[in-house]
Amino acid sequence: MDNKIYFGENLSILKSLRSESVDLIYIDPPFNTGKIQGRTQIKTIRSESGDRVGFQGERYKTMKIGTKSYSDLFDDFLAFLEPGLKEAYRILAPNGSMYFHIDYREVHYCKILLDTIFGRESFLNEIIWAYDYGARSKRKWPTKHDNILLYVKNHDDYIFNYDEIERIPYMAPELVGPEKAELGKTPTDTWWHTIVPTNGKEKTGYPTQKPLGILRRMVQASSPENGVVLDFFAGSGTTGVASLEFGRHFILIDKNTEALEVMAKRFDGVPNIEWVDFDPKPFQKIVVQKQSTPLQEPLFEDNKVSSQ
Ligand SMILES: C[S@@+](CC[C@H](N)C(=O)[O-])C[C@H]1O[C@@H](n2cnc3c(N)ncnc32)[C@H](O)[C@@H]1O
Repeated sequence: MDNKIYFGENLSILKSLRSESVDLIYIDPPFNTGKIQGRTQIKTIRSESGDRVGFQGERYKTMKIGTKSYSDLFDDFLAFLEPGLKEAYRILAPNGSMYFHIDYREVHYCKILLDTIFGRESFLNEIIWAYDYGARSKRKWPTKHDNILLYVKNHDDYIFNYDEIERIPYMAPELVGPEKAELGKTPTDTWWHTIVPTNGKEKTGYPTQKPLGILRRMVQASSPENGVVLDFFAGSGTTGVASLEFGRHFILIDKNTEALEVMAKRFDGVPNIEWVDFDPKPFQKIVVQKQSTPLQEPLFEDNKVSSQ
């Protein structure tokens, strides 16, 4: 099977996908914060009249080159999510898993909704993705985590590749002896990982882009070799990149043209991608040879997991 990237509303596309045809689903729906998610992109150019002084006293001015944004305000967030989640359950293979990424304000409502669709006994984990970046509140504990709920379709039979999970350093390696320290430990349900580094290679400029490191973990642990991974709120396509790295196939869906443009650039040169209702070529430089060797090397380097 080729990889597929769809441009469009996810619900109608999900309805067209075969039952039990996908091994792993990751979704990161827009949070119900009522804010416009956006990021202004700027470029600095040298100018006599510039307002910034840089290296060797040169003056620079900042030019706004565009704003990427989408509204994440929904009148009824759960009513918006429910039909897609029901489709997700149908599409998932009998031993499949779903990771649902959300923030601390919504997670409790979403957990109840997901329990009704998957069954309470099919809830495996609440993963806390902890980071430490940005402003710190002085009026409450600074909120520096997202929540990721892991559900399986069948709690007696699901994929969890324990032996393949990346190992991370012990916090106190001297307490476990050199052999264990060398091997490292498996992560728990609390994942310390930086956000996408502001100036790193990984950054696409898409608002709310998630770090590859956390997607890698999910794909590696919860999908079979050659399996199919679906993300129907794909954004910049992080799930697709992680899937490629581990030799999985992917299906990505997004309704925002900016997301498709970012994905066009991110997957530039990657063969065997079928683009549905979107032409990536105007945003790409590399001419893809159909059926050439699939990408072997990781597309992006990732920050290593921080302390744990
Ligand atoms: C939080 S972002 C996902 C970011 C992504 N995980 C990444 O790493 O870049 C949510 C995405 O869902 C998309 N979206 C929202 N509603 C949608 C819908 N009904 N159908 C398809 N895409 C939708 C938005 O366009 C946005 O790109």
